[in-house]
Amino acid sequence: MRPRRFSAQGPLKGRIRVPGDKSISHRSIMLGALAVGETRVTGLLEGEDVLSTAAAMRAMGATIERQANGDWLVAGVGVGGLLQPAGALDMGNSGTSTRLLMGLVASHPITACFVGDGSLSKRPMGRVIDPLSQVGARFTAYPGGRLPLIVEGAATPVPLSYRLPVASAQVKSAVLLAGLNTPGITTVIEPIPTRDHSERMLKGFGADLSVEIASDGARVIRLVGEAELKPQAITVPGDPSSAAFFVVAALIVPGSDLVIENVGLNPTRAALFDVLRLMGGSIEEIDRRDVGGEPVADLRVRASALTGIDVDPAVVPSMVDEFPVLFVAAAHAQGRTITRGLEELRVKESDRITVMRVALELAGARVTETEDGMIIDGTGGAPLPGTPADASVATHLDHRIAMSMAVAGLASANGVGIDDTRPIATSFPVFEQLIATATAA
Ligand code: S3P
Repeated sequence: MRPRRFSAQGPLKGRIRVPGDKSISHRSIMLGALAVGETRVTGLLEGEDVLSTAAAMRAMGATIERQANGDWLVAGVGVGGLLQPAGALDMGNSGTSTRLLMGLVASHPITACFVGDGSLSKRPMGRVIDPLSQVGARFTAYPGGRLPLIVEGAATPVPLSYRLPVASAQVKSAVLLAGLNTPGITTVIEPIPTRDHSERMLKGFGADLSVEIASDGARVIRLVGEAELKPQAITVPGDPSSAAFFVVAALIVPGSDLVIENVGLNPTRAALFDVLRLMGGSIEEIDRRDVGGEPVADLRVRASALTGIDVDPAVVPSMVDEFPVLFVAAAHAQGRTITRGLEELRVKESDRITVMRVALELAGARVTETEDGMIIDGTGGAPLPGTPADASVATHLDHRIAMSMAVAGLASANGVGIDDTRPIATSFPVFEQLIATATAA
């Protein structure tokens, strides 16, 4: 455990740059490892989760190396060319690595054993086991469909047409990745759109993939296998889910005026910024441009008086990882914020509804947990008291709980204790450094 107390350090100012997008980084390593030839990735997130993906792809035959200038080179084995890994694949804390790689292995004639940390080993894998079993893969999992689990990939995989029962980009991506080495058309029907990085990047690597909107509004994604992927040069935009912590910190710490450079604004990811603007947050986009096929801008964020709102549940998939930090913003708003439709938060790295309710209560916020959301009565801009001097928030191996409550600490009267900051390194290794930069400017 690495505990730390985060206390008010004055306004956030100057300019910072957040690291590469986690979702895009995972996918660039995986698809690079399946292309024939050398893929160059600039701006890869060097967080533990992405490094778990890289280690697994190496164990299955790819060559993946960091260059002196920070670029990563990936020499792929070609679709169908994944090798039998010699030992268990350690996924650490990473659900994305696990679920997407289960998809890849499912249509290769190899066997892989997936293991993970205490948090990952509690998370449900049935949602990918179900469709991938229909592809022909066989699974032996711990009770409840949990890790550790063994996947025996199908020697003759069957193309699937699958309607997603939960709005999950991980499940969608697992099925599409299985489709790469499956002859025929793999179809995923997505009633509620989720992040579309897999679709964008598969097309970029030359896969035959199309998206059509059905009469009921569902997205119908078709992938033709077996695919041949061509190596690419990829620039990874900054992660909006990492920027989110600094956006909220700058909004709630009085006197802040911060520019966050290079923030990915893919519409399937960026709803937090719209919600915060609706609450009265001053978030200005500067120099909107395209980076690696994704919209990007610098964000100028100024401390703002926020007002509570009723958050439309339709936006949940496009800010699914940002609710913990939205709760922190809402705890400083004038009036009541109501959030609903957050069932999926209960199966993230921790149960993010209960864990945030307990954490915010400990810091002095007024919050009510509901079955599928949280109701927050804000302070109207006053700082939260913070946690008692001898008490700290339990983060349950969840990086986003640790960072959200660190942000609460920066805006608090007496500071917020965090029991363990180590999980932050899974997605945002320079988080604490950037807090120091922004509060020293
Ligand atoms: C991710 C999808 C989301 C998100 C996760 C990353 C991805 O998970 O929470 O952090 O890269 O596909 P779900 O698909 O479970 O919603």
